[in-house]
Amino acid sequence: MSVHKNVKRVTTHTLQAMKEAGDKISMLTSYDYSLAKIVDDAGIDIILVGDSASNVMAGHETTLPITLDQMIYHGASVVRAANRCLVVVDLPFGSYQGNSRAALDSSIRVMKETGAHAIKLEGGAEVKESIIRILTAGIPVMGHLGLTPQSIYKFGTYSVRAKEDEEAAKLIEDAKLLEEIGCFALVLEKIPAKLAKKVAEAITIPVIGIGAGHEVDGQVLVLHDMLGITSEFSPRFLRRYANLYDVIKGSVEQYIDDVRRVDFPNDSEQY
Ligand code: KIV
Repeated sequence: MSVHKNVKRVTTHTLQAMKEAGDKISMLTSYDYSLAKIVDDAGIDIILVGDSASNVMAGHETTLPITLDQMIYHGASVVRAANRCLVVVDLPFGSYQGNSRAALDSSIRVMKETGAHAIKLEGGAEVKESIIRILTAGIPVMGHLGLTPQSIYKFGTYSVRAKEDEEAAKLIEDAKLLEEIGCFALVLEKIPAKLAKKVAEAITIPVIGIGAGHEVDGQVLVLHDMLGITSEFSPRFLRRYANLYDVIKGSVEQYIDDVRRVDFPNDSEQY
């Protein structure tokens, strides 16, 4: 029997049991109550309130501008909708790097003000002190390695990371470090599938991939991308399960036309 079938509420322990049983973990982003409710009702294991809200919700070019207050607003909206899944909130750029006290304060605010179950942050050895300090407060931490969008100005592009041996070796070392200091799971973004498989086999905590192949413990996508609401972003790893851009645009065009033709509202749609 699959682990997730018996679960009323997904916890970090459920995810660990899923890895041990070989059950794949499903994760999607959400940023608001209405969509999070559909995603949770569908049976997702984890909702990530990603800092991709900066792009998807606010229209910024990068994830850097989103603030802690804005992440807390999105996180609290999602938590109100989530009955079964584990909710993880991203710590935004500038709220944890280089200052473990600030990292702890940011994480405590997220946990207190959203009701989420865990936080995620980007980086390996360079954020070790911050992660250790957050963990001392009993806050579960999810790591994130590979393409880490908060460092986009260091990388220069959103292309595949860790193709060269040196960067791949550092990534494996960082993954082992994150496991050792106590992260409960790890996201690997846009790295070669072979390397992701190696990492998933080398560590005992769940490894969740995005653009990292299928030989990891679970998958994550940005909800608006997989639903086809966003249309300008189409990396190779993205599978579109719907084309809601066309559905929504077509519906709005129909509504505009109905209003102009005085077809809406009709006699049965008024008091
Ligand atoms: O912010 C986000 O949506 C993420 C996922 C792409 C993993 O970090």
